[in-house]
Amino acid sequence: MIDELRKLAVEDMFDLDAAVELKNLAREIAEHDRAYHRDDAPKISDAEYDVLRRRNDAIEARFPHLARPDSPSKKVGAAPATGYEKVTHAKPMLSLGDVFSEQEVAEFLAKIRRFLKLGEDAAVELVAEPKIDGVSVSLRYEGGVFVQGATRGDSVTGENITKNLRTISDIPKQIFGSDVPSILEVRGEVYMRRDALAALNVRQQANGGNVFANPRNAAAGSLRQLDTSITAQRPLSMFAYAWGETSATIAPTQWMFLQRLKEWGFETNPNVRLCHSLEEILACYAQIERVRGDLPYDIDGLVYKVNSVELQERLAFVSRSPRWAIAHKFSAEQVMTKLWEINVQVGRTGSLTPVAELEPVAVGGVLVSRATLHNEDYITEKDIRVGDTVLIQRAGDVIPQVVEVVADERTSDSRPYDFPDTCPDCGSQAVRKEGEAKRRCTGGLVCPAQAIERLKHFVSRNAFDIEGLGGKHMKTFYHRELVRSPADIFWLNRRAARIFELEGWGEKSIANLLNAIDLRRKISLERFIYALGIPQVGQATARLMAKHYLEVGNLLKEMQVATVPGSQAQAELVDFMELDGIGPAVVGEIRDFFSEPFNFNAVRDLVNLLDIQEFIPPDETSSPIAGKTVVFTGGLETMSRGEAKAKAEALGAKVAGSVSKKTDYVVEGADAGSKARKARELGLSVLTENEWLALIA
Ligand code: IVH
Repeated sequence: MIDELRKLAVEDMFDLDAAVELKNLAREIAEHDRAYHRDDAPKISDAEYDVLRRRNDAIEARFPHLARPDSPSKKVGAAPATGYEKVTHAKPMLSLGDVFSEQEVAEFLAKIRRFLKLGEDAAVELVAEPKIDGVSVSLRYEGGVFVQGATRGDSVTGENITKNLRTISDIPKQIFGSDVPSILEVRGEVYMRRDALAALNVRQQANGGNVFANPRNAAAGSLRQLDTSITAQRPLSMFAYAWGETSATIAPTQWMFLQRLKEWGFETNPNVRLCHSLEEILACYAQIERVRGDLPYDIDGLVYKVNSVELQERLAFVSRSPRWAIAHKFSAEQVMTKLWEINVQVGRTGSLTPVAELEPVAVGGVLVSRATLHNEDYITEKDIRVGDTVLIQRAGDVIPQVVEVVADERTSDSRPYDFPDTCPDCGSQAVRKEGEAKRRCTGGLVCPAQAIERLKHFVSRNAFDIEGLGGKHMKTFYHRELVRSPADIFWLNRRAARIFELEGWGEKSIANLLNAIDLRRKISLERFIYALGIPQVGQATARLMAKHYLEVGNLLKEMQVATVPGSQAQAELVDFMELDGIGPAVVGEIRDFFSEPFNFNAVRDLVNLLDIQEFIPPDETSSPIAGKTVVFTGGLETMSRGEAKAKAEALGAKVAGSVSKKTDYVVEGADAGSKARKARELGLSVLTENEWLALIA
């Protein structure tokens, strides 16, 4: 196809030919540039290279609107023409675990004490802060000068919105003082006050612009403006509450950190409290919940943070949230509305979820017209009928749910709902296994709904994150046989002409899509594994697998054998996962997934097509235990097993559950049993707890 297109004269081209050819040329020229400059090994003559460049220039001259951001005619490193430049955060911007009940808050505290090996009643100071409902941002200061501001993005990479953040008066453009670290990242929440939102909406309505459903959408929409002069007109505020990279320690506690921020000219929330016990934080929660409506801005709960920075560092992180902080959310607003119909949705593993189609109603500032009914028992137990008036709620970002029927409002024409026993999409039997709440479509690989959901998961934000290929489009692409397995997505460049025939697609949107796909030909191993959509394998498990296998080649090789029950590879996988609390059921799902030839082949096709990056353990360079395999055995004195393991991993080591020839260190605590014995038999180095602490100090 490239060859045919290459023969086409520029004068005879239509837009689509031009777009495809520009893309091909961009890629080829970049390859030749690399071969020439980086590898000193040109693959074509200078004259041939010039022909390619001249063709690129000629097409751009005739179709200037199709010129690509990565065009060879533009300087290297030029910022993308649309959207924002990406920023990799020096320290990831993590999120918080959510809890809703006092019981869960008590567990959070108990877990901290266990992890730190403190007594059950030991005092742990906590700072309680209102959880602002806005957009989190990171502000970077170098030598006290504000140099860069970014959104959180996917926590590792965000968007550079420095110019827009400069328009916010709460954000100091320069900070003064002898104690300002030369590198300082301040994190916080950009938000819009409620009165400011009301005034903005009046103006928007008068000008025929967007009216915002809630302050958070307004803040996000305003920050994302490409035209900074628009952001400047939006009344945005900011509270600072955390730090990212810093060249020096700022304060020994969160409380003192907040004082320092104030001195430097940041706004911090006035309702922050220093607490010393569970009772105190819960009292603080109750008090703030009472005055919540009187605050000039939206909050959706409280955040509790361990005050001592030293303890924070020991507690560290589990997957994407800190162990030292948690969000205690307010219970959700509940609203009445009419339930008109019940539909059944098929998930990527075939599970059937009943969904209520509702009379649209605003809940927590968002218009809701559908809500989940969870499963068939939920409908029966709550006696929910079509035509009923129901109470619905939205809790945080969770999908709205039907809470209960408003019995007094039931009319005689309400009808009980019969849950289907066949899949609404492919008609296969839908069966319910013992012990499972959900009925599942047995259509497996022949069920289009399941296939489409799997593909949607594959391109979703935490997976391949391919913009412009969301729900509706994937469905069409599937039914038009443009995409049937994930690898097909990466062949779409050859099918541009067919996409063009579809409604709603033009040259520009096709070029954007192909561009977005190209950006993902290189991907991290953990994202790749997560994208496969193996049942029960979420981001945390995917990361663990990446850590275990390091390279996709190892994963594939092992999976060929690990699918055999009882094999050594499977036993190792089970061991490894169990260490992190991942049970054999998940390992069973992984095995089942890879034993299905369709899945195995789909993965192999992707491996051949993509550049899947090797997993690099963090802190590789500086730590003496980086890349080493460590086994802990027996009880440790100064820390719990969980902390020991987390610490070792943070320093780049791999922690294994059993001793083998591959083990580098065995750390022996009190009453160590067979593992220490085996280690000695194998002649491995066995360390006492103190020796271990000295090694990692
Ligand atoms: S601390 C590692 N403090 O809540 C902890 N977050 O679910 C970093 N948020 O992304 C966050 N108010 O957007 C923290 N006082 C507060 C907050 C707060 C609002 C948001 C923030 C974060 C999200 C976590």
